[in-house]
Amino acid sequence: MTADVFNFVDGSHAAPAPIQPWSPILVPCEAIEREIERLADAPRPEDGRRSTLIVHPLCTDGSLGFGPGVDVTINVLKPGEQTRALRRNSNQIEFCIRGSGTMYVGHNAQPFNRWDVASIPSMQPYYHKNTGNELWVRLTYSNAPLLRKLAVHWVDYVDPVQIRSAAAAGEDINENINRSTAPDIQISADGARLRGYEFLTDIQVVENKPLVWPWETVSQALSFEKGDEKRNIMLLYNPATGRRNGTTHSFFATLFSRQKGNPSGPIGRGHKHSSVAINYHFSGRGKSVVDNVVVPWKAGDLLLSGPSWSEHAHYYDHEGALVLTVQDHPLHIGMESLIWQERMDGPILNLGSEDGQKGYIGPRQAG
Ligand SMILES: [Fe+2]
Repeated sequence: MTADVFNFVDGSHAAPAPIQPWSPILVPCEAIEREIERLADAPRPEDGRRSTLIVHPLCTDGSLGFGPGVDVTINVLKPGEQTRALRRNSNQIEFCIRGSGTMYVGHNAQPFNRWDVASIPSMQPYYHKNTGNELWVRLTYSNAPLLRKLAVHWVDYVDPVQIRSAAAAGEDINENINRSTAPDIQISADGARLRGYEFLTDIQVVENKPLVWPWETVSQALSFEKGDEKRNIMLLYNPATGRRNGTTHSFFATLFSRQKGNPSGPIGRGHKHSSVAINYHFSGRGKSVVDNVVVPWKAGDLLLSGPSWSEHAHYYDHEGALVLTVQDHPLHIGMESLIWQERMDGPILNLGSEDGQKGYIGPRQAG
């Protein structure tokens, strides 16, 4: 293609722009289990990664998403197996659904067991080793589809030791050229400023450590008995994400528990938000209603439970439930695009940019 080929497209009459949400997709436990067994029975891939992406049928642009900007991968390792170290500029949340092993990220080695959640920051070398006696199975969520759309998902094999020493190697650099010595001039009373280019290249660093939220600890904060005065949903917060309250810079993960013997009431209205919600149910049974489509689910089922700007609500039967929800909420806060409508007859709020929802004692439901 030559550099002077382009199109002019009519940009008038742009409002209103109706949103067409993706359809909810349920991936049943049985299908996930079959794929786990198939991955385990296959010959070991060269880099050790026995992996399958779960791709939404509406994802036809090659970005491999389960939602438009998020992928979900089933990862399997047999006992004793180890993956080759990688670096990628996408960030990841992992959830262990079976077995146990050790996750190596940067200089950290952390045990990772069933129902634990972990964050893998961007561009930190990582690999996994199954140190247990059974299959080790993880669900991994990442923003790679968004980066593929931006044509810049960077992935490469690395030697974790070499990466660290290369980063530490110094060159002839004038350390005095940095953001603290660059011009920084206010030019309007409202706050507009002019700044030197150093502010773009010498950016303040916020350390992002790989973190693990062990189920053994997290579960102690969740309510399992009526009246135990614990919460039914908790955010797995990574301090690197600051006021965007993420587990990674793109996603939050929450863990939700619904007590047994406390079934939901009749179906009512839901809420909607621009962030996409994916629920993995690891105990119990219930149903979700997404844009008037009723989707029954049970333990082991993965559900695109809240496609962006779909009206959705979740209901639980007498068995109760445990649910991991992943949402690209922090990404939207960073883009100032997190719009949220809690009641269908209420306002559409731009969360993070105007007053949010107050008096919200217990979130409606997971997701
Ligand atoms: Fe929701």
